[in-house]
Amino acid sequence: MKLIHMSDIHLTTPGSSIGSRDPNVNFEKALAHVLRDHSDAELLVITGDLSDWADPDDYVRLKARLADLPMPAHVCIGNHDDRATFLEFFPECRDDAGFAQTVVDTSMGRCLLLDTWGPKTHAGHYCEARQAWLERQLAGHDGPFLIFMHHNPIPTHLAPMDQIRLLDDTAFRRIVARHAHKIRHIFFGHCHLPLAGSTAGVPTTSLRGTNHASIAVFSEARLLARSLLPESYGVVFVGPDYVTVHMVEFGYDGPIDIEGTPDYADWNRETMKR
Ligand SMILES: [Fe+2]
Ligand SMILES: [Fe+2]
Repeated sequence: MKLIHMSDIHLTTPGSSIGSRDPNVNFEKALAHVLRDHSDAELLVITGDLSDWADPDDYVRLKARLADLPMPAHVCIGNHDDRATFLEFFPECRDDAGFAQTVVDTSMGRCLLLDTWGPKTHAGHYCEARQAWLERQLAGHDGPFLIFMHHNPIPTHLAPMDQIRLLDDTAFRRIVARHAHKIRHIFFGHCHLPLAGSTAGVPTTSLRGTNHASIAVFSEARLLARSLLPESYGVVFVGPDYVTVHMVEFGYDGPIDIEGTPDYADWNRETMKR
């Protein structure tokens, strides 16, 4: 199964920019790239920060755009979103306790899309009610599971990032540990950085968003470092006994040597230009 993992699209008023880039234009570019190279993907998941300021218009435009795609698209909310506003436009994402959590079955397992949103904070929360929901989901099905969420469930050791990580990460990891044998992978966003690791033994990855990019500067204490590294989305292959995660830098506009490029045809020490 192939799936597309996008994150941190940060839609905003058309024509506005964030980090000198236009998030609406970049989201369209990302979708065009996906449709060109991966229209066979079984689904697309966006792990939050759908809108930059939670303006209702952003959700209206997003909903219409996702409905147009050839593959089903599913979304999580992030700290830049507003749960109540989001659920007005995506009522199908409401769980039985009023959180924006969904269950999506695919050919390679059951996806759980978590709600790590908290009011008036950029940090992530996973309260006891949501923990109980996750425990019920994981205990009530044989899996395998793929988990999608916005906030980082593991520390990055970048101080400004970790101040707004999933604050209930210890409780979250305890639940994951109990069901780790059934969970294939955890995908998250929020950090605008490519990251790989594990959460209570379960492989975990994140990626740069489709607009503004961060960069790992370990001396930063208060504000996240910003960069012009290329805009990206993820392509994920889930096999019966492996998961492969690519970060596709669709915003890169430098040269790429491919088959057919002059002097790049032969794998030959004498004639190949390196
Ligand atoms: Fe973000
Ligand atoms: Fe975020």
